[in-house]
Amino acid sequence: MAKCMDNPEIAALLAETASMSAEDVLAWAADRFGAKAAFATSLGAEDQALTDMLSRVAPGLAIFTLDTGRLPQETYDVMAATRERYGLRIEVLFPQASDVEKMMTERGPNSFRDSVDSRKHCCLVRKVLPLRRRLAGLEAWITGLRREQATTRTDLAGVEWDAGNGLVKINPLADWSAEDVWAHIRSNDVPYNALHNQGYPSIGCEPCTRAVAEGEDIRAGRWWWEPPRQKECGLHVIDGKMVRAEASRQE
Ligand code: ADX
Ligand code: SF4
Repeated sequence: MAKCMDNPEIAALLAETASMSAEDVLAWAADRFGAKAAFATSLGAEDQALTDMLSRVAPGLAIFTLDTGRLPQETYDVMAATRERYGLRIEVLFPQASDVEKMMTERGPNSFRDSVDSRKHCCLVRKVLPLRRRLAGLEAWITGLRREQATTRTDLAGVEWDAGNGLVKINPLADWSAEDVWAHIRSNDVPYNALHNQGYPSIGCEPCTRAVAEGEDIRAGRWWWEPPRQKECGLHVIDGKMVRAEASRQE
């Protein structure tokens, strides 16, 4: 685990980066943490904008994606397009085969529909445990989280201490709007997931993501059968221990 940073240390990092652009934050992260930092991409719009910036200002930063085994084909298509366009290495991380085999054998192939607990168990096996394995030994990770994305993300800071995973979390787009993201994508001709043109503002696994109607909340298409406060998969520990506590109950 990385050295635990206390509030003043995190506050100092926040102050250092407060007036930086997202691009500058990426360059700063590469400089400050080097091989001890990595960018987690879901290949969604925000992450594509970050990958585009990173290719210019921090091409040496590690990039990884969690392949849950249930991703839509369109996500693989944008992964291929991104590799081709930028020539960057995107590490693909899978869940432990034995964990998936056990879950599918004992609970069935679509257990995420059975209850919130079963859904979180699936997210734990397919996303959270692989993420924890990748973050072990790092000092910082970079995400495409934005404050405006969800009711669970309104307190998001540009730099925070990720207590659940024990390292610094850097969110260069924390204060970006969806319009800012799309303006960057358009003006830089960044490859993006074709599902975004079909009413999908937020894209995760195929069975747990649907299109949203005009005017609907941008997270309405994720785990749409669950109440809004449950709509986190455990990658991001939100308001203290809510997500973490629910995830760890099932281990
Ligand atoms: S989720 O928690 O609901 O799945 P969301 O799709 O909003 O997250 O993505 C928020 C950020 O989490 C992304 O910008 C990215 O940094 C990280 N992330 C989400 N899904 C993945 C994934 N499959 N692989 C790597 N990083 C991911
Ligand atoms: Fe499983 Fe759905 Fe979570 Fe993907 S989003 S890991 S399929 S519950």
